Amino acid sequence: MSGPDGASEPSPASADSPRGAADSRSPAGESSPPGAPSPARERRVIAAQPRQVDARAQDAPGAGVSPPGAASPPPPGTASTPPAASPPGAAPRGADAALAAAPTEGWLTEAQARRLFVAASRPRPRGAVVEIGSFRARSTVVLALAAGEVVAIDPHAGSDRGPQEITADAVRGDADHEAFTANLAAAGVADRVRHVRRFSSDAHGDVPGPLSLLFVDGAHRFGPARADLVDWGARVAPGGTMLVHDSFSSIGVTLALLTTCASTGDWRYVGRSGSLAEYERRSAPRLRELARHLAELPYFARNVAIKVLIVAGRRRWAERLGLDPAAPWPY
Ligand SMILES: C[S@@+](CC[C@H](N)C(=O)[O-])C[C@H]1O[C@@H](n2cnc3c(N)ncnc32)[C@H](O)[C@@H]1O
Repeated sequence: MSGPDGASEPSPASADSPRGAADSRSPAGESSPPGAPSPARERRVIAAQPRQVDARAQDAPGAGVSPPGAASPPPPGTASTPPAASPPGAAPRGADAALAAAPTEGWLTEAQARRLFVAASRPRPRGAVVEIGSFRARSTVVLALAAGEVVAIDPHAGSDRGPQEITADAVRGDADHEAFTANLAAAGVADRVRHVRRFSSDAHGDVPGPLSLLFVDGAHRFGPARADLVDWGARVAPGGTMLVHDSFSSIGVTLALLTTCASTGDWRYVGRSGSLAEYERRSAPRLRELARHLAELPYFARNVAIKVLIVAGRRRWAERLGLDPAAPWPY
């Protein structure tokens, strides 16, 4: 997500105040997903038109896959062990097509969408693919095209929706739900996605068994973010994957990570694309994991400083700290 910390943040990507902008920036210190080319530039697309397609994605290598809606979903029960998307080192086959099919509304950058696609494409242990925080289906479409079947948990209550959008707003939530449904249909993946319209804390009973992949992008305040990492993270099978958006950017999410993944020894930090952090569920030396998380604190401090400067009306100063002039917010 994208940043509802409960802090006074501007609204960089509200679909109700669309920017229609395609932003590019050089990501700071991020690592490429395994099997993917290192993204030289990270591009974010936030717009009101859900089918606006990024021309770069169409032209990019690896785009030679079925158009949106043409791919057949894998047979039920096989979603947890899809074939590898590409040979090692090759471009993630299908990632660009998934990006082209995904709605542009949302906070997920292109580099992050690719990382999500690669993670959801590779072989995993058996178990469900679960997304917490779907908004208008940008990440949901990417996951569905990569993994085959997705459980998307989002109350669409208009709460914890984006920066400065913490309290519930039924009109806003219903509009998101309508757009979510329409965007899934437009991308041809409606039959691959099971939407659970509940808060994540109330949705455990809706998802039986272990998880093979968990994408966390729901409420970003410390309490609910930590609950997602602890309660849902515990359900990820050994060898499974967890991806967390707004890591080392949102204060709530970062504190939640530091008090869980960084210190339990139950997760191996794989790396990040911007603020999208990836973890593998396996035991890992605690000290090493703590050190790897602490090494991200300068990036976190930079993001917090950039947000403070933006809120204070000092965008120029924020740009000097690395904010792309076209980017409304650090992700
Ligand atoms: C930033 S958006 C997610 C963006 C989305 N992943 C994308 O790629 O565009 C955050 C979403 O989390 C949802 N949300 C808020 N609190 C939640 C909770 N407790 N459980 C699940 N979803 C929640 C909001 O309704 C909102 O749609």
